[in-house]
Amino acid sequence: MSTPPSPTVQPATGRLGVLTVGLGAVASTLIAGVELVKRGQALPIGSLTQMATIRLGKRTDGRSPMVKDFVPLAKLEDIVWGAWDVYPDDAYVAASRAGVLDGGKHIEAIAEVLRDVRPMPAAFERKYARNLEGEHIKADIGKRAMLEAIREDINRFRDDKQVDRIVMIWCASTEIFIEPGPAHMDLESFDAAIDADDEMIAPSMLYAYAAILEGVPFANGSPNLAVDTPVLRKLATERNVAICGKDFKTGQTLMKTVLAPMLKARQLGLSGWYSTNILGNRDGEVLDAPENFKTKEESKLGVLEDILEPAKNPDLYGNVFHKVSINYYPPRGDNKEGWDNIDIFGWLGYPMQIKVDFLCRDSILAAPLALDLVLFMDLAQRAGLGGIQEWLSFYFKSPQVAPGLYPEHDLFIQLTKLKNTLRWMMGEDPITHLGREYYDEG
Ligand SMILES: NC(=O)c1ccc[n+]([C@@H]2O[C@H](COP(=O)([O-])OP(=O)(O)OC[C@H]3O[C@@H](n4cnc5c(N)ncnc54)[C@H](O)[C@@H]3O)[C@@H](O)[C@H]2O)c1
Repeated sequence: MSTPPSPTVQPATGRLGVLTVGLGAVASTLIAGVELVKRGQALPIGSLTQMATIRLGKRTDGRSPMVKDFVPLAKLEDIVWGAWDVYPDDAYVAASRAGVLDGGKHIEAIAEVLRDVRPMPAAFERKYARNLEGEHIKADIGKRAMLEAIREDINRFRDDKQVDRIVMIWCASTEIFIEPGPAHMDLESFDAAIDADDEMIAPSMLYAYAAILEGVPFANGSPNLAVDTPVLRKLATERNVAICGKDFKTGQTLMKTVLAPMLKARQLGLSGWYSTNILGNRDGEVLDAPENFKTKEESKLGVLEDILEPAKNPDLYGNVFHKVSINYYPPRGDNKEGWDNIDIFGWLGYPMQIKVDFLCRDSILAAPLALDLVLFMDLAQRAGLGGIQEWLSFYFKSPQVAPGLYPEHDLFIQLTKLKNTLRWMMGEDPITHLGREYYDEG
């Protein structure tokens, strides 16, 4: 199949408004981090857009620019922040409360700019996250009015801050589990469900709908359905608005999508994968409710099956016991500990074990992904790429893909796809790693 022609990418002139839904641990760590980096007070470690290089041409060509010098990304200096949250805390209070960053070193130095990011009242209903008690909400106005209020918020933000473009990113809590149903199939049913205040319409769907209607790209860092419904997928494609999700791939699933492809590459068998976590931040508290955890569980469980494809290799992967749990344990705060016990088998069926104990920091891992997503979604929109941005699967536990496609979970295939998309956008040849040219010439 031939490669489609490269798009024309509009330059990143002017200011980029970034609207975070949720101003909790991830969003405040993102905002504080970018502000520190802008001032030369920290390095954007973990961010591919800021730290990585990209090889162009042959290995012998010696062309490996920084990604940010190769594609026209918005500059960090041009980002303007806005947010919604269920609590009225500004980004200074949110960052201090989240306990992720060292206050003396990483919050006080930029206190003024953090205090300036004050959230707008959230479109929120407690039934979707019952462990949250904030009252900074668009209360009891019905879903249609909530949708219109979000649209007004977007436009007010655009005017007040005089931004040229906007990206919205969901950094808010995980909602209760909702399966796609008739209400999510087409615009007529979706609008009727909104008017009827149908509980199948979660707040995340209203934010996503509002974003698409306002031409604002929407990235979903949680496992909520949000924009991953047939109706919003279609609308985003028709209106040429970039969308992507779901659920930042940060800790345990990041490990899983590196280790599982290794097992498969070496044709080693798997009999069980037991994953458990302790974490004590507000995300952990929300996920302590079983109906919210179910949403996360679905997002985490799909990965192994998609990577290992048991139907194609039943001897190795036909009988895998896979269990994932998250335990709310306040003393650890945002510093999650994720354990994996992996029972594998090799030559002639002899059993072996792998143990992983990842003492990670949730928001420290998530913030650079959120930054990359914001910058790449803005790039995609300027390149005229509407609909699902599958090339950003690299960032997600449960990548959104076109109907009928299985998601690609292998981290290194995802990285190749991402970089080849950047090469394609800029009119460079994709890198296939075939490498015959080094041996066939002369
Ligand atoms: N490593 C990670 O941190 C990681 C990885 C994957 C996914 N996530 C997801 O990212 C999201 C954010 O994580 P966090 O640690 O910052 O959580 P958090 O609880 O610190 O912050 C979420 C914020 O969203 C607000 N909120 C909830 N519903 C809202 C709504 N309808 N509108 C506006 N605000 C709303 C809450 O009040 C809270 O302040 C969660 O869904 C989490 O599951 C995080």
